[in-house]
Amino acid sequence: MVSTPTALITGITGQDGGYLAEYLLKLGYTVIGLRRRTSNRNLGFLKSLYKKYDGHFDLIDGDMTDAVSLMDGVRAVQPTEIYNLAAQSFVGTSWNQPMLTNDVNFMGTLRLLEACRHLEIRPKIYQASTSEMFGNSPAPQNEDAPMIPRSPYGLSKLAAHRLCGVYRDSFDAFISCGILFNHESPRRGEEFVTRKIANGVARICLFKTDAITLGNITTKRDWGFAGDYVRAMWLMLQQDSPDDFVIATGHTHSVQEFILAAFEAVRMHHPKIWAKVSPRRDYPIEWKDINQFIKQDKKLMRPAEVHELRGDPTKAKEVLGWESAVEFEDLVAIMVDAELMRERND
Ligand code: NAP
Ligand code: GDD
Repeated sequence: MVSTPTALITGITGQDGGYLAEYLLKLGYTVIGLRRRTSNRNLGFLKSLYKKYDGHFDLIDGDMTDAVSLMDGVRAVQPTEIYNLAAQSFVGTSWNQPMLTNDVNFMGTLRLLEACRHLEIRPKIYQASTSEMFGNSPAPQNEDAPMIPRSPYGLSKLAAHRLCGVYRDSFDAFISCGILFNHESPRRGEEFVTRKIANGVARICLFKTDAITLGNITTKRDWGFAGDYVRAMWLMLQQDSPDDFVIATGHTHSVQEFILAAFEAVRMHHPKIWAKVSPRRDYPIEWKDINQFIKQDKKLMRPAEVHELRGDPTKAKEVLGWESAVEFEDLVAIMVDAELMRERND
């Protein structure tokens, strides 16, 4: 009998966890998600996976800060692959909660690796590393660019990234690290800038608010679509040997450009809505048309900023055959559409 591969995903309730679970289930995997205890047990869209993939999808309780639950979890599931996505992933919060950030992101990874080390059949492991590890290293950043993080979050992730290298070398463990640049979707957490802008623009255009309050709008990020990026995670674990890969679009845009593109998406795809906001319908939107809708608040500025991220995904293309498939303008439009729908139904 051929047994189906079983994947254990930590961070299943997050943006990437959901897309990855769907992707693996479609490939025929059994997927078990590790989720921490919260007082609100609302599963959101994950609930639909139980029904759709009856017997192939389940959740177990566990917490990255609790070694026992991780040991019990991996022993019970006996996964062939583990995707370690769980993290305190919001950079801004990492200055206010540096110890928690380190405990979940670094110590949590250590606990998970130790839980797997003595298993009879050791799973392949994917580690969610990040472009935040590069800090202000000059763009474009590839796998060999210097890593000089600028936040407690970046530092915790770099420590976990290095730890994975040490376990790979010391114990011959199959651990691949995806150095993923920013990736977004309508399932992005509300505090991240793209979701905040998409939602704010939708609310402005539906006359539910006057402005979006932001921090630094000159910073640049390499933004891709999360649905594309989970495929790269899976591809990394299908290689003959473990390795690290930059996953990015290769293009960068400022926060200000994201704002412009979001209003432009309304003008292009929802002309009737735009006509009520601005009589200037026939021309691409310029900053002077929308400046009035943006407020800046020093409290939202970070103590140290990463100014420009632009990844060089050459290795991923050559070795994995992976390329980002969604263009910046399309990503912005997908997110704005979703927020217009959400806000209209609200
Ligand atoms: P996310 O939406 O913030 O999801 C984080 C997940 O981690 C959630 O399921 C969260 O559970 C879980 N989690 C947090 N603390 C935990 C704990 N103590 N024990 C167990 N689970 C815990 O993040 P994402 O955007 O999907 O990103 C996935 C991973 O990729 C993260 O490690 C992130 O740092 C990394 N990454 C993300 C990006 C990006 O642009 N999205 C780029 C590079 C790297 P709750 O729902 O209970 O909070
Ligand atoms: N969140 C947020 N809110 N960011 C703002 C705001 C605001 O009101 N105003 C300006 N920004 C700027 C931030 O200062 C940062 O330069 C940029 O927008 C992006 O911020 P986030 O969306 O919070 O993402 P991030 O780049 O800090 O971190 C994300 O990407 C990393 C990969 O590079 C997260 O997903 C991390 O978990 C991930 O590792």
